[in-house]
Amino acid sequence: MSSLTTSKAWIALQDHYELTKNDSLRDAFKKDINRFSKFSIQLNEILFDYSKNRITEQTKALLIDLANQAGLDNKIKALFSGEKINTTEHRAVLHTALRNRSNQPIYVDGQDVMPDINRVLTKMRTFCKSVRSGEWKGYTGKAITDVVNIGIGGSGLGPKMVSMALTPYSSASLKVHYVSNIDQINIVEVLKSLSPETTLFIIASKVFNTQETMMNAKSAKNWFLAEAQDHQAIAKHFVAISTHAENVAEFGIDTNNMFEFWDWVGGRYSLWSAVGLSIALYIGMDNFEELLQGAYEADCHFFNTPFEENIPVIMALLGVWYNNFYNAESHALLPYDQSMRYFADYFQQGDMESNGKSINLQGEKVDYNTGPIIWGQPGTNGQHAFFQLIHQGTKLIPCDFLAAANSHYKLPEHHDILISNFLAQPEALMNGLTEEEVKTKLSPEQQTDSLLVASKVFPGNKPSNSFLFSKMTPKNLGSLLAFYEHKIFVQGAVWDINSFDQMGVELGKVLAGVILPELKNNEVITTHDCSTNALINRYKQLRED
Ligand code: F6P
Repeated sequence: MSSLTTSKAWIALQDHYELTKNDSLRDAFKKDINRFSKFSIQLNEILFDYSKNRITEQTKALLIDLANQAGLDNKIKALFSGEKINTTEHRAVLHTALRNRSNQPIYVDGQDVMPDINRVLTKMRTFCKSVRSGEWKGYTGKAITDVVNIGIGGSGLGPKMVSMALTPYSSASLKVHYVSNIDQINIVEVLKSLSPETTLFIIASKVFNTQETMMNAKSAKNWFLAEAQDHQAIAKHFVAISTHAENVAEFGIDTNNMFEFWDWVGGRYSLWSAVGLSIALYIGMDNFEELLQGAYEADCHFFNTPFEENIPVIMALLGVWYNNFYNAESHALLPYDQSMRYFADYFQQGDMESNGKSINLQGEKVDYNTGPIIWGQPGTNGQHAFFQLIHQGTKLIPCDFLAAANSHYKLPEHHDILISNFLAQPEALMNGLTEEEVKTKLSPEQQTDSLLVASKVFPGNKPSNSFLFSKMTPKNLGSLLAFYEHKIFVQGAVWDINSFDQMGVELGKVLAGVILPELKNNEVITTHDCSTNALINRYKQLRED
């Protein structure tokens, strides 16, 4: 047994779970008309309602005891002050510095990182102004009309998610496109409608040797040179975002056209750095800085607020409650906002790459569940797809619902329907529908059909959080993203794991490196297990060229 599962706070929660696991949320609301005000928090324009969770005030207190037992306070201070909390890679974790709008110095290895951050922000501003105004010309003297961000994981998902969420802030004269997958359909379909004369490529990669990104970048360069016929023209059409100047130069991009970031920025936390350049080009640097501001305000809230009223801490502890005591395996992110269609994808990496670990900080195997499976889709689409299982399936799936009170668009009837569903689903999940209630809606004959009645019963008691914010603005989005980032951090702190490495992605990359040369000829392969051999050999038979 680990020291966590035998700890005082853990055992107290375990006992409390046994006592309360059958309590009904419906009853809890009936008994306490102040439940919403007790279990909700407002930060600026964002309301976080967590009252529809299977908790009491005692649950909350016991969860906070667990956070205190984990030394969360000191761990938060270590995060913000640039301590090397990524202990396997011996790195600080300072995405908060990237949005440190106070500009207070933050030190890594005795050096203040703020001057470098500000220098890159200034460079981004100058570049964005030049491209967006049309002053920056392509090799034939035409202005840039299309930006293609080539990058994967944190170097693609974050910028894509934010750009799509903030489309109403975009400039009509500049489109952005995202290429991440090595599958050629991705780049071929994006380039199909573009002209080399007016296209700017951003090659975003922390290490600048990621196989997919480098291959896509090479194909982009070939496509460009096939028309431009001039290597000098590359400087006007390719910029790089990386921590590795040498790799950038080797690829053939002038390092003057490089926007740097640093090894203390994790890939999945990098959209706040120059990796956000495609966002800044799309929505303008002022709006990009508003995004940083929103995140900064959430950072201040996280750093300064007692745990009882601290949004990311509460989000995280609720997650621990379901993950470790109710044994919930997944957590659904359900934005009722089509512009947030990549939100769940983004936090799939953010959360699962961070907390998908099974050894603790001492290298011992853990005996408790760590990171949940994160998934989801925008409402109302999801309602017509997988909500059936959330309502009536056998699995407990805590959900986060997110919605903006105001749309950027002008069809109010749509928005009312959207929001009515955003409000109804958590209510339905919580209340369910009893057999008696089902019967009141059926004819006398139907009431005697026990199968029909049983099929229409909703067990209810399904937990959810709701985020309601004024509008999808850069600032609100910045705050929401920072809440989720810190939620991941807090859970990692409670589970005593390193949330900032990602060793689990390496093995597959290494094995693909072994297989790739084996695909280059028609020889029969016998060096793997019989399944892998058979698949390789079948592939060789099936391929057409
Ligand atoms: O393979 C996983 C990963 O390292 C992610 O952590 C990262 O976001 C992604 O690959 C892309 O890495 P890079 O930005 O270095 O190309």
